[in-house]
Amino acid sequence: MSPRRIFRPLFRVLAAPSGALLLMIGSACVMSAAHAQTPQPKAPDTMEARVQGCTACHGTHGQGTDNDYFPRLAGKPAGYLFNQLLNFREGRRKYPPMNYLVTYLSDDYLKQIATFFSQQRPPYPTPAKPNVSDTVLARGRDIVLHGDAGKQVPACVACHGSSLTGMEPAIPGLVGLHPDYISAQLGAWRSGSRRAIEPDCMHTIATRLSDEDVSAVAAWLSTQPAPQNPVPAPARSLKTPLACGSEPQ
Ligand code: HEC
Ligand code: HEC
Repeated sequence: MSPRRIFRPLFRVLAAPSGALLLMIGSACVMSAAHAQTPQPKAPDTMEARVQGCTACHGTHGQGTDNDYFPRLAGKPAGYLFNQLLNFREGRRKYPPMNYLVTYLSDDYLKQIATFFSQQRPPYPTPAKPNVSDTVLARGRDIVLHGDAGKQVPACVACHGSSLTGMEPAIPGLVGLHPDYISAQLGAWRSGSRRAIEPDCMHTIATRLSDEDVSAVAAWLSTQPAPQNPVPAPARSLKTPLACGSEPQ
């Protein structure tokens, strides 16, 4: 994953004629200012106003955008989204616009934003058309559904659920994500630029996958349609094969 690739979306936003980023930064300031001062000078503090700075990149309902890098937030468990906002605030995940936006926001505020996006149910994008060979797709499917015993990689569905919608309170769904986003996240775990609460099971898993495995998994996942009822599995309904600090059992 080249840095150019990661930053391209930001350049697109910066180049947008609407001055979208200024608007976002503006509303981020409003958000943090409104929060820092109690008693507050009453600007309308609705959830819509709070998330206005987020929607240019994540869509009005957190559905993500056509951009190949901005992830879907809608319907992911609130605990997962909250953990990510903390990860950005505390530097365990790095993407400068995200790090900047949440710097001054309190836990409580972030929790409310996480809850808001977890409750959104916009439609899922049409599954991607595979742009890799059938052999690669089959390899991806195999890892997701069965893992790779030789490499001690557990099946992804063991934790992310058989319908890939994640599990409460803190395992995200993997449907509706772009392949570039998925590979970038697995790459970030391998290089250490994305970290989760210890023990970081995704770091362990990602470092056991080769580059080819990562591409195969990302390609197959992105071709999967969302199930009829795309809600995360109930907490503790799956016994995770490795310990994950963000999903204590
Ligand atoms: C300039 C575009 C941009 C803006 C504005 C933005 N985000 Fe993000 N956000 C991203 C990108 C890109 C990522 C993925 C970054 C990475 O880890 O590589 C991301 C990741 C996230 C994640 C983690 C998603 C996941 O599935 O792991 C959450 C949660 C999130 N953003 C919430 C927000 C909230 C809340 C706001 C508003 C306060 C916001 N974002 C504003 C671009 C943006
Ligand atoms: C032992 C349980 C477990 C297994 C097995 C597992 N995951 Fe995860 N996964 C997690 C947890 C927990 C998180 C959330 C980590 C965090 O808080 O950042 C996660 C997060 C992710 C994310 C980030 C999603 C986003 O929106 O940013 C991706 C991508 C991912 N996993 C892919 C995979 C793939 C591919 C496999 C199979 C090779 C897999 N996972 C197997 C537990 C697991």
